[in-house]
Amino acid sequence: MKIIMLGAPGAGKGTQAKKIADKYSIPHISTGDIFRANIKNGTELGKKAKAYMDQGLLVPDELVVDLVVDRVKQDDCADGYVLDGFPRTIPQAEALDQALAGMNEKVDYAINVEVPDENIVNRMSGRRACVDCGATYHIVYAPTKQEGICDKCGGSLILRDDDKPETVQKRLGVYHEQTQPLIDYYTQSGILREVDGTAEIDDVFAAIVEILGE
Ligand code: AP5
Ligand code: ZN
Repeated sequence: MKIIMLGAPGAGKGTQAKKIADKYSIPHISTGDIFRANIKNGTELGKKAKAYMDQGLLVPDELVVDLVVDRVKQDDCADGYVLDGFPRTIPQAEALDQALAGMNEKVDYAINVEVPDENIVNRMSGRRACVDCGATYHIVYAPTKQEGICDKCGGSLILRDDDKPETVQKRLGVYHEQTQPLIDYYTQSGILREVDGTAEIDDVFAAIVEILGE
């Protein structure tokens, strides 16, 4: 099963993508996580990506398309995968479709997690991410057992650099301008499905499982 997660920054794509990956035993491929790992390791790609991410802008398509196309060709993707944060522009979606067509494959579902802008800033300012394993929490909606400590690995939790309110506003603007057109794109190809992302985390997931099947 090949799945794309769509939705505004902070809509809960990553939260749901991790649950999908666990339930259906398929890889979770997050371009945001890939860039953050590259930044942490000080790679050339990380240095280039950081300059855009810190401003709330998208990284240029040419830095992201080949990376994802190479990743979905790996052996562990044979039974499918869940893409989180990609595609984010029409050219990225077209490049993905083209690459998959060349392998006689296609995306099965594009799941749009809908959350109004008013809820987003609140979500982002409460989000905490583990510096070691990347797990995400929320101080109110998904708290850890011990404050500031990751439940999964014991690492410390931080506020992401791009989660400051002014950067979140910028990311929302970029989302409406460059990423929202993908909703029409996938409506036209017949694979768009919508879920209410304002519901509780487990209820959003139940709605997704209803779409994907047990
Ligand atoms: P990326 O990491 O993809 O960020 P994003 O799309 O802005 O999404 P987020 O990770 O912020 O949010 P999310 O929807 O995953 O929400 P989460 O589950 O964490 O990208 C970062 C940057 O990298 C981009 O700005 C860009 O520069 C660059 N980039 C990445 N991919 C790119 C691409 N393809 N092309 C170009 N540039 C690219 O949830 C948010 C919070 O809410 C959490 O605290 C969570 O616990 C909580 N929460 C989740 N669900 C619920 C719920 N139902 N109720 C209450 N709280 C909830
Ligand atoms: Zn951790």
